[in-house]
Amino acid sequence: MFSSRLDWEARPNRLAEALEKRRLAGLPVLDLTESNPGRAGIEFGAGEILEALDDARSISYEPDARGLLEAREAVARYQGASPDDIVLTASTSEAYSMLFKLLCDPGGEILAPRPSYPLFDYLARLESVEVRHYSLLFHEGWWVEPGEWERRVTPRTRAIVVVNPNNPTGSYLRRGEVERLSRLCADRGIAIVSDEVFADYRLDPSPEIAPTLAGVEDALTFRLGGLSKSCGLPQMKLGWIVVGGPAATRAAAMRRLELIADTYLSVSAPVQHAAARWLARRTPFQERLLSRVRGNLEVLRGFTTPPRVEGGWYAIMRLPATRSEEDWVVDLVDRHGVSIQPGYFYDFQTEPFAIVSLLPKPEIFVEGIRRIGNALDES
Ligand SMILES: Cc1ncc(COP(=O)(O)O)c(C=O)c1O
Repeated sequence: MFSSRLDWEARPNRLAEALEKRRLAGLPVLDLTESNPGRAGIEFGAGEILEALDDARSISYEPDARGLLEAREAVARYQGASPDDIVLTASTSEAYSMLFKLLCDPGGEILAPRPSYPLFDYLARLESVEVRHYSLLFHEGWWVEPGEWERRVTPRTRAIVVVNPNNPTGSYLRRGEVERLSRLCADRGIAIVSDEVFADYRLDPSPEIAPTLAGVEDALTFRLGGLSKSCGLPQMKLGWIVVGGPAATRAAAMRRLELIADTYLSVSAPVQHAAARWLARRTPFQERLLSRVRGNLEVLRGFTTPPRVEGGWYAIMRLPATRSEEDWVVDLVDRHGVSIQPGYFYDFQTEPFAIVSLLPKPEIFVEGIRRIGNALDES
């Protein structure tokens, strides 16, 4: 009766069960997976955020499929692009869905990094698109081996996704990697989708890092971002696609994206009218968030040597190979009251790894890391 796109294997999740058991027993958990800045107590000025929504223009409905000009102009100033090359979406996830519709027929393929953000498989499947993976290898930093993208591309590949910086490895592409990627994509007529939702949260000033794919001229490029990470406002539901690359292809893509956006008109007027004011306040918020991240990273470094974190909100910990990732994270909840994510959530190819968010309040983070230290000492 139902579409096979929804036939997802429901893997029993022992971590969710362990957390639920603890909750029912009324026992607290130190949550080192928290990734909502608001819940982590990072001040974003609730009063002013809400005030911006109180705008009389929001009472009339005058949609523009690409997004209202004033909001696109605000995103354009922020992204150093033209408002004519921008389409607003309700989220980055929706932006992916629109791009998969734009680029792929059913059965088309996209290449996505591994390890990375776990939603691609679901987003692609809902568009009847297949995900093939390319590997990020770890050797004193994360990198894409020369020839890796070329090996993974097939005649059905329509786009290569990069997440810059990547979640959860916190790694940016190198300038040389961007050159290789754009040359390959230009030669083969493949689009680049660059997820830059964490791009403002750079921690490493090394010049070899490519902080954004803005400026790629030879290949059709879609850069994605949103308020969810730029302003810590996931609940407001505003994202964007910035289109770059050769003028004629860019214009053809924009016409088609406009048609897709016009079919849904999913971004609300109040949010679009408020967007310029919210974006104007992003810098102090981002500074507070970065200061939290740096502080927690220091705490983590006092206890272990996490792989270099170049940007973003997460850090990876290598756990002793005395038991599986799942056993580690379940035991940490059961016996130590600390919640962290196992590497397999992000498709790490070896284990055991764990991912910690660098957003939690310092008192929670310090105590959580101390308890993890005790658990490791016991093992
Ligand atoms: C790499 C990456 N891209 C996209 C998103 C989703 O962002 P949005 O809330 O705009 O859909 C996330 C959320 O965590 C993410 O980590």
